[in-house]
Amino acid sequence: MAVQISPSILSADFARLADEVEAVAPAADWLHVDVMDNHFVPNLTLGLPVVQSLLKHTSLPVDCHLMIEDPDRWAPGYAEAGARNVTIHAEAVKSPVRTFREIRSAGARAGLAVNPGTPVEPYADLLAEIDMLLLMTVEPGFGGQRFLDLVLPKLRRARALVAAHGGSVWLQVDGGVSEETIERCAEAGADVFVAGSAVYSAGDPARAVQALRKQAERATAHAAWAQA
Ligand code: DX5
Ligand code: ZN
Repeated sequence: MAVQISPSILSADFARLADEVEAVAPAADWLHVDVMDNHFVPNLTLGLPVVQSLLKHTSLPVDCHLMIEDPDRWAPGYAEAGARNVTIHAEAVKSPVRTFREIRSAGARAGLAVNPGTPVEPYADLLAEIDMLLLMTVEPGFGGQRFLDLVLPKLRRARALVAAHGGSVWLQVDGGVSEETIERCAEAGADVFVAGSAVYSAGDPARAVQALRKQAERATAHAAWAQA
């Protein structure tokens, strides 16, 4: 699978969201939208009404990352609204199989996210129910945090689990992904890269996306997991 870059608007100017989305649109594969409820994480961002408005203003597929309690109740609504991917957290979901099936039957891809301290092995049996596994490389809640290298061994194990399952599940990393860290992620097995501050703190966000893509592609070309 080709490298995909999903810029996170968490680091964008929320008062100028449509323009900020436009700034990455020529270079990005996805638009990563962080929904936070101030309960699952200690921060509050935006919800369904803003996602609905964004969907009217962009042709980029929207990648919703729900950092919320009770995703069983809320996640299907994001898929019904037109988000192309809806990711929910393992630490919050109560009925994952039912919720993933509802997301998929509403026409979206289904993602499962795990925090840095959450192992992936207990979720191996859910791989058939999901389209993407998101490994958080910071504790969720804020942009601009330092990348946690301790997630890299888990990323390698996740890549092996995905390969054993047939390889169709995408592996996303989110948090602290930058020109300093993206190669490590690609080498360890990631193929979808979320970047917030690395993109929106750059003078030219589209160019920053292109540069990240180039680095990730170069590292993937040398990665052992991608040779198999
Ligand atoms: C953090 C969010 C991320 C955030 C990443 O909880 O899920 O998507 O925007 O921001 P950076 O790339 O700045 O770490
Ligand atoms: Zn995110």
